[in-house]
Amino acid sequence: SVQLAVPVGDLVMVATRPLSPTFGAEVLDFQLSGTPEGDDIAEIRTLWAEHKLLLFRNQSFDETALVGFSRAFGDLEIHVREEYLSPEHPEILYVSNIEREGRRIGILSDTEVGWHYDQIYLPKPAVGSLLMADTLPPEGGNTEFADMCAAWDALPEATREKLDGCLANQSYEAFNQAYSVPTNNKQKARSPDIHHPIVRTHPVTGKKALYLCPGMTTEIVGWDHEESADMLAFLFDWTTKPEFVYSHAWQPGDALMWDNACTMHRRDPFDSAHARLMKRTTILPP
Ligand code: SIN
Repeated sequence: SVQLAVPVGDLVMVATRPLSPTFGAEVLDFQLSGTPEGDDIAEIRTLWAEHKLLLFRNQSFDETALVGFSRAFGDLEIHVREEYLSPEHPEILYVSNIEREGRRIGILSDTEVGWHYDQIYLPKPAVGSLLMADTLPPEGGNTEFADMCAAWDALPEATREKLDGCLANQSYEAFNQAYSVPTNNKQKARSPDIHHPIVRTHPVTGKKALYLCPGMTTEIVGWDHEESADMLAFLFDWTTKPEFVYSHAWQPGDALMWDNACTMHRRDPFDSAHARLMKRTTILPP
């Protein structure tokens, strides 16, 4: 079904189509531009907060346009993995298994990537990210998203009461070890373990979301070790139940924009004989 976005002021209405029964929307007939209009920015902001994940199909923009469009929503991060940044646009991180001149050009290669929130290990984590498909394998490499507001809302009341107000430890190092991502000392020093509230209130919608992920959340601060491990194991299973998850099968020209305050994501492996290159910008908090 096609839905019309709620108009705000004089904004032109943009048509959307749901990606899953609970969250995510495809924005129809919309070209991302390097110099987006104010009205478009406001409207996309509204849709982004409402749907948490936006899909734009049939895009033809280049790196300059990706950076220009992304920057309309905030300052952009220069990722700690400097070796995987675009040579022309350091705001773009390459996610890829492609090798050039004996060196991989992107992060994460072709193996499975576990559930994570981008930059949950930083003091002020990212607001959201845009991921543009440049080169795709014929199959595999789907990216999955979990709606962490829906997962929070559906928890038993007693569990919510137990968790609200708690802090959790977030470790980029745990993720890098689990997925065999080599990290040098400078990168480690820039991303030490950090504590964040395990329940996060969305800055725009005011809705609560679970703020934890199997890839990086190692313990609930101040809890008995076993109790913390049991609760996290339960929450990791809970948040990745099919009713909270949307799996995106990429098509050439796709771009996804996700809300990093209330969705986590993972990626399926794909055949290493095929090349995959995705280009990501990461939007920083104000
Ligand atoms: C990521 O986790 O940011 C990359 C997802 C993907 O490769 O599809």
